[in-house]
Amino acid sequence: MTMRIAVAISGRGSNLEALLRALQPGAPAEIVLVVSDRAEAAGLAHARSREIPAMVLRDPADAAAWLERLGEYRIDLLVLAGYLRLVPAPVIAAYRGRIINTHPSLLPAFGGKGMYGERVHQAVLESGARETGVTIHLVDEGYDRGAVLAQSRVPVLRDDTPERLAARVLEVEHRLLPAAVLAAAAAGRPVPLEQSPVASHQSRPRDKTPNAPSPGKP
Ligand code: GRF
Repeated sequence: MTMRIAVAISGRGSNLEALLRALQPGAPAEIVLVVSDRAEAAGLAHARSREIPAMVLRDPADAAAWLERLGEYRIDLLVLAGYLRLVPAPVIAAYRGRIINTHPSLLPAFGGKGMYGERVHQAVLESGARETGVTIHLVDEGYDRGAVLAQSRVPVLRDDTPERLAARVLEVEHRLLPAAVLAAAAAGRPVPLEQSPVASHQSRPRDKTPNAPSPGKP
């Protein structure tokens, strides 16, 4: 059975685009709904150009509205791909273990409230960490806290700027997120990537990864 996916975005939507490219017709998963907390999110165009329903949440904290939409589209998996707000707790409870997020660092390092976009890469550079990366994780009620499903490392280079580092991390994200979604489709639910038959060599177990100092965020 094809896994029915909703993707939540707040901005550019390049991870949504990477997912759409990876999930061609015949794939075990299909994006059937895109939601955004921002009407001006550029990524909504990726959905609209493919005639995928793209909805702007009038109130992103309205759990009932979320649940109605996810139910209406019979969603099996919710993917947060550059979605910058907390998903309301009743939605997390109803879809526990079926919501994943991509984060542009090796969590738990450089995660938590306020750690998004360029701020993450700026903090990595300021810390002197020699590597960073990408984490795909289950979503719980907090920011960037749920169980890690996959991580992939990216070296920090001597002459990196936040922009250059962000671009290299994003490239890795565009491979790791689709790999995690395909693994979830194969298993019927999100699973650690290294335990999946479609495991990618890029995935790393959590306990071997973060050498970077934590910025002390929750
Ligand atoms: C990604 O790096 C994501 O991990 C972070 O914000 C970026 C979103 O990029 N939270 P995009 O909207 O998918 O292009």
